[in-house]
Amino acid sequence: MNTPANSTVRNRVETLRQSLHHHNTLYHVQDNPEISDAEYDLLMQELVSLEKAHPDLQSPDSPTARVGAPPLFVFETTSHSLPMLSLDNAFAVQDIIEFDSRVKKALQIQDAVLYTAEPKLDGVAVELVYEDGKLIVASTRGDGMTGEVITANVKTIRSVPLQLQAGAFERRLEVRGEIIMDRKGFEKLNRSREDKNLPVFANPRNAAAGSLRQLDSMITATRPLDIFIYGTGLAPGLNNDSHWDILNRLKSMGFKVNPLIRPRLTLDQVLECYRELEESRSGLPYDIDGVVIKVDSLRYQGMLGEKSRSPRWAIAWKFQAIQGTTRIQAIEVQVGRTGVLTPVAHLEPVRIGGVWVSRATLHNEEEIQRKDIRIGDTVFVERAGDVIPKVVKVVTEKRSGNETAFQMPATCPACGSQAIRSSLDKSDRLESALRCFNARCPAQLKENIIHFASKRAFDMDGLGEKLAGQLVDAGLLTSYADIFQLTIEKLLKLNRMGQKSAENLISAINRSKKIQLSRFLYSLGIRHVGENIADILARKWGSLNAVMQQTPESMAEVEGIGKTIAESVHGFFSDPTNREVLDRILENGIEILSGTPVAGKTLEGKSFVLTGTLPNLTRSQAKALIEASGGKVGSAVSRNTSYLVAGEAAGSKLETARKIGVEIIDETALMQLLEGKLPAPSSSRLFQQCLI
Ligand code: IVH
Repeated sequence: MNTPANSTVRNRVETLRQSLHHHNTLYHVQDNPEISDAEYDLLMQELVSLEKAHPDLQSPDSPTARVGAPPLFVFETTSHSLPMLSLDNAFAVQDIIEFDSRVKKALQIQDAVLYTAEPKLDGVAVELVYEDGKLIVASTRGDGMTGEVITANVKTIRSVPLQLQAGAFERRLEVRGEIIMDRKGFEKLNRSREDKNLPVFANPRNAAAGSLRQLDSMITATRPLDIFIYGTGLAPGLNNDSHWDILNRLKSMGFKVNPLIRPRLTLDQVLECYRELEESRSGLPYDIDGVVIKVDSLRYQGMLGEKSRSPRWAIAWKFQAIQGTTRIQAIEVQVGRTGVLTPVAHLEPVRIGGVWVSRATLHNEEEIQRKDIRIGDTVFVERAGDVIPKVVKVVTEKRSGNETAFQMPATCPACGSQAIRSSLDKSDRLESALRCFNARCPAQLKENIIHFASKRAFDMDGLGEKLAGQLVDAGLLTSYADIFQLTIEKLLKLNRMGQKSAENLISAINRSKKIQLSRFLYSLGIRHVGENIADILARKWGSLNAVMQQTPESMAEVEGIGKTIAESVHGFFSDPTNREVLDRILENGIEILSGTPVAGKTLEGKSFVLTGTLPNLTRSQAKALIEASGGKVGSAVSRNTSYLVAGEAAGSKLETARKIGVEIIDETALMQLLEGKLPAPSSSRLFQQCLI
């Protein structure tokens, strides 16, 4: 639909261009973005589609026609012998299927095309030029044609070879790659910047870019930078047939090539590889934001050629973003299960990683002061995996002057008792927090009840945040033991409670009365006793009575239970009020399924790898259970792996395990192993057949 543009479209295109230019400069030149990459991508996508629909609006200086921003004047510049291109982005499986079709169509072939799948490293693109084996110039991408010379800075990075191994080089060799900062190094750098009252970096990418942009390379030298090489510029001496061969050749010359690169994959294997990398993303030591898919054959790459800003033989399949920017509307103070007062930001809803985020934890008062967070501020918000969203950084440039500072209240917002500053653990290792010490504080009670009834505790379906609040406010619950005294009649007195819901809740409560010891211990809400610790206690002593009889000393002897935990558990069971509540719980016909205490560790010496989604256990639960029984959990399958535990949508680990003959088991078989039984061979074999 190539229609001439009307004035509304014209205006929108102009606004988008100005906005993209502005954000481009902030991102590429000043390393200080005001919007997230995902928001930038959205603006760019809108502009691309408007220009496509209205060719009369196309212009050579549109942000869609070039990559990056002009180099900073303070650095010397250099021309790249071959332009440093960017990549087209894909966001869904369909985009990759279409990419594969385009490739095949252009090559006029029906057979499968083989691809290399590489992690899309979230750092800074660089080119390194070697002459006679010596690094002579390192430069940034700049606008794709001309980059900034950052040789002195790059030379400080230890993984950059300054001299190639003898005999391994050609007269001139240009390689390209990504400079990154790993997460640990990034956290450490930000902590030390906070200590010096310097602004923190929003993410490792910005920290890497900022570190490379130092005029004084002594500063760069102190920054934990690393590099992975993923391709070449002009490299006349490297006449290999495939991209994968080139990578191997570069590796043999001393360049660091990412170990997660998977060579020669069919389209289906590429899709599987994407899932695998997305799954392992949060566990990697550095940030990746997608998968780069490249046609492996260099002959095919040549035939496919390039467009103005990107090659036709490669595409970047982006993961869902984990950061976004939004505004803090208000700050509310919540009272947790243990009385800790936590400030929580109410945000203008923003979509991050496929979900709407409207709240983020601000942790404590010190954190608010350190980051200088004010009501009304525009902030970077990050959501990683299951973790509660957090505010990373304030975009101070967006301040209007109307923002207001926030102060923690002097009293508990739920019960009005005085808030007292206390260390979160006895050793003072953790930051101090304001706490409410009123044992009858309704907010703490509500949180305790929500925890008690939650899925991984008593699993009382229907008893969530809202109902817990109503029940406490109506005076029907004064401790979690009262839950078992609830009746349909009592429930029906609550607002908007129907007969059916009341019946359902009572049957959920009755069903929950048969409970595993580890879940029971977890549900009590003892400080420092999460699922793993509860499981360790249950496995070690096998019954509630036995756990209750332990001294702090005998408990602290167990691996995984330190002094703090041991004292907390002992303190809980020694408290007369807690004992009374316990008695009241047990009066209700609760059956605690203990299992036999495990003498010795059933999985000692065995190593496991987990893949896919298990029906009942989360990854971390499975890992904790294996480790509590003495087993080890690794991330990659090798001949030393004893078992691969595979769930639904298991990826290439399953294939590897099959290839090298590692035993594959499912969750049921894992549970049998944990109980000291050998899984029935038929069950695991059957499982393998199902998956083939
Ligand atoms: S290949 C013509 N491979 O993504 C191909 N790029 O938007 C150019 N990146 O500028 C790049 N990991 O900074 C390639 N394994 C990888 C990459 C990668 C990260 C970055 C690179 C590039 C940008 C493209």
